[in-house]
Amino acid sequence: MEPRPPSHSLSVMTRWMGPTDANSAGNVHGGTIMRMCDEVAGIAAIRHCGFPVVTAGMDRMTFEHPVLVGNLVTVRACVNAVWRTSMEVGVRVESENIRSGECLHTSTAYLTMVALGDDGHPTEVPPLAPETPDEERRQREAQLRRDNRLAEREHISRGRQDA
Ligand SMILES: CC(C)(COP(=O)(O)OP(=O)(O)OC[C@H]1O[C@@H](n2cnc3c(N)ncnc32)[C@H](O)[C@@H]1OP(=O)(O)O)[C@@H](O)C(=O)NCCC(=O)NCCS
Repeated sequence: MEPRPPSHSLSVMTRWMGPTDANSAGNVHGGTIMRMCDEVAGIAAIRHCGFPVVTAGMDRMTFEHPVLVGNLVTVRACVNAVWRTSMEVGVRVESENIRSGECLHTSTAYLTMVALGDDGHPTEVPPLAPETPDEERRQREAQLRRDNRLAEREHISRGRQDA
């Protein structure tokens, strides 16, 4: 399979936040933002591998500022690293005040997407070919998150056996 650069998977979605996206205080639900992240991350992963994908997990999601009704929310996603059948997709969320034009970086998320073949089982994905120092850094950091996740799982599993 031909390696693909992260830029090949870059995917962007912008939505205006309306009253149905929010609670009565006018703050947009975290779930609204998470859903957008999941959708755009899925599109980025599909672009990289050319197969349907499922979300296997979300490693991390931050909410650094509230998003308000009336804001524009832009979600950008790109594949950071790939393994055999899974890919880590990094997502950046920005909220824009339509009157002032002020943009705030409100969230970062890392999702693991798994490619499914025609038989519905995980299938191999093309390698990733980072082209810039930033892309190389993202790939290294994604590997660290995966190593930590697997080490934690192993640690918990051993703790249960010993208990
Ligand atoms: C994700 C899923 C396809 C993995 O299937 P599986 O039979 O466990 O397959 P494998 O053990 O071969 O794992 C396949 C890959 O998924 C990764 N994976 C499995 N569970 C994971 C998890 N919780 N977090 C991150 N990656 C995970 C594995 O590391 C492996 O990656 P690799 O091939 O790149 O090393 C399966 O668990 C599934 O279908 N889950 C439901 C997904 C879904 O419906 N999402 C939407 C929720 S509504």
